[in-house]
Amino acid sequence: MLLPTLFIIVVSLLLGTSDSRLTLDYYAKTCPQFSQIIQDTITNKQIASPTTAGATIRLFLHDCLANGCDGSILISSTPFNKAERDNDINLSLPGDGFDVIVRAKTALELACPNTVSCADILAVATRDLVTMAGGPYYHVYLGRRDSRVSKSSDIDGNLPKPTMPMSQIIEIFEKRGFSIEEMVALTGAHTIGFSHCNQISKDLYNYSKFSEYDPQYNPRYAQGLQKACSDYQKNPTLSVFNDVMTPNKFDNVYFQNLPKGLGVLKSDRGLFGDPRTRPFVEKFAADESKFFQAFASAMQKLSLVGIQTGRRGEIRHRCDQIN
Ligand code: HEM
Repeated sequence: MLLPTLFIIVVSLLLGTSDSRLTLDYYAKTCPQFSQIIQDTITNKQIASPTTAGATIRLFLHDCLANGCDGSILISSTPFNKAERDNDINLSLPGDGFDVIVRAKTALELACPNTVSCADILAVATRDLVTMAGGPYYHVYLGRRDSRVSKSSDIDGNLPKPTMPMSQIIEIFEKRGFSIEEMVALTGAHTIGFSHCNQISKDLYNYSKFSEYDPQYNPRYAQGLQKACSDYQKNPTLSVFNDVMTPNKFDNVYFQNLPKGLGVLKSDRGLFGDPRTRPFVEKFAADESKFFQAFASAMQKLSLVGIQTGRRGEIRHRCDQIN
């Protein structure tokens, strides 16, 4: 009893005033079908396009780390405004993530017009997809409002890149209130999904005068990647699994891969290479339930970063444009 109460107090302190309090049953009266509609939408979509889970989790991360979980990543550019989603780093966000949110929004607008925010849909769809892929369930507090602003320039410096030194990656998460352990747990999302070959081409070909590929790679794995990506210049859509052993299952095998040199991105290999992050890689590799617990609680925290509530923002009619 004490823990949930404490959590609600912390949530309200984080959010400031009482009219801006998030609740678990925010739509209970105004849209009782809320959870079911999202659940049905994500299930159908994930069965038809199994890349949806990874796509949506990354979409959510990129929404939350740049100006908060306010649905700003979903807004399309106009002739007068280059939106967040058109920043270079976001061009690789797959269409399936956007599409599943549009589908859920369309169904929700039919059932309960002008009621449910795109930001809440994205937060809950992400949680449901994590769970559907085999990951942990966690509660998502509701009542986020959608932002009325989305600027490509707000992305810069707020999203991690695989080429960044680990200190800079740690700083990006620290700035949003995450510990190193929470950051490592969150990055366990790389247990599913893909990376495009162009994200790793520098690690694979002509790496240095001593080695063709990054020596942090397991040699057989590096050779396999070299082959899989060999055509990447002609075919920019070529991609490889983030977790080569169990690519579609949300489990802790990603962490077990890292000490074996099976991390696909430089930042993945860096998590094992850096003494600040390695203890957590080892902890999560050894015990899946510890990973799931840490991931669930860090995702719940991520879903509260920089949110707008009360009279701020709006309930967008369409997720891709402000009202
Ligand atoms: C540690 C810093 C991180 C870096 C540098 C990083 C970078 C990347 C990059 C470059 C990709 C490949 C994108 C592509 O080529 O399409 C990727 C994929 C992905 N990332 Fe991260 N990421 C980080 C942390 C996280 C976190 C914290 C999460 C979630 C909470 C996450 C979720 C994902 C997912 C699910 C994918 C697969 C996307 C898909 O299948 O379409 N990442 N990440």
